[in-house]
Amino acid sequence: MIKVLVSGALGKMGQEVVKAVSSQDDMQVVAGVDPIATAPINGITMYQDLNEALSKTEVDVVVDFTEPTQVLKNIQICLEKNVRVVVGTTGISDQDLVLLQEQSSDKDWAGIIAPNFAIGAVLMMRFAQEAAKFFPDVEIIEYHHQQKKDAPSGTAIKTAEMISQVQVNQKQKEDPTIQIIPGARGGRFDNINIHSVRLPGYVAHQEVIFGLPGQNLIIRHDSTHRESFMPGVLLAVRKVKDLQGIIYGLEHILFD
Ligand SMILES: NC(=O)c1ccc[n+]([C@@H]2O[C@H](COP(=O)([O-])OP(=O)(O)OC[C@H]3O[C@@H](n4cnc5c(N)ncnc54)[C@H](O)[C@@H]3O)[C@@H](O)[C@H]2O)c1
Repeated sequence: MIKVLVSGALGKMGQEVVKAVSSQDDMQVVAGVDPIATAPINGITMYQDLNEALSKTEVDVVVDFTEPTQVLKNIQICLEKNVRVVVGTTGISDQDLVLLQEQSSDKDWAGIIAPNFAIGAVLMMRFAQEAAKFFPDVEIIEYHHQQKKDAPSGTAIKTAEMISQVQVNQKQKEDPTIQIIPGARGGRFDNINIHSVRLPGYVAHQEVIFGLPGQNLIIRHDSTHRESFMPGVLLAVRKVKDLQGIIYGLEHILFD
């Protein structure tokens, strides 16, 4: 039985993780952490602090869906306590990844960090990377609910990174557009424009739009419910014990 602690257990994703883990035969939720917790939830002991929870509970895997400002510290606490971690929280920078890789290099420990746990989104990024070899010009539009704290999404940044990796010899040109309203052309990652929509009604959606003279190719993925992320999270919880170091992206446990 894999003993799972859910960090951010009272959040939108955390609640979904508690439900998904609790419905599996080979894993159980042994505790939850959330600073707004005041009482046990459905018989699960809740803590306001991850350090305290890990000191008082036997845990195999922490699953973290918290906040971009909290996530690095939470991963470092797991590393220090030698508890493996599965992270869905966005906001981890390249520098954070390098730091975590260094800090964990001599430890028997692993952390899986994925900006998107939906299998369809991972495929969307993979297909976009394939298409980018043939289409140098591309823009990304991502759509999320209004409570999302950061922009652009981790998925959009990761998609742009993957596209950039295959476009070394044919980078998209600088954008000469005069922006009458600053930001009208979105944010830029390696010359790839990223547009972030925040509206009620959306969960997590993304379009990668390619253009060549006379044709457009649009690759789109829609997560219409948070349950779309759960098969990926459960897979990561099962796999993390067999891995070593920082694994960034669900594709590495799906395809490698
Ligand atoms: N990787 C993916 O597939 C995926 C999918 C959806 C959302 N996300 C990301 O997951 C994160 C959470 O999303 P959400 O919609 O559930 O947000 P949310 O605001 O609904 O929930 C976050 C929860 O974390 C709690 N929290 C804050 N600081 C904490 C700490 N230090 N320790 C423990 N808990 C803490 C908050 O009180 C809150 O209950 C966001 O970064 C979001 O972008 C990732």
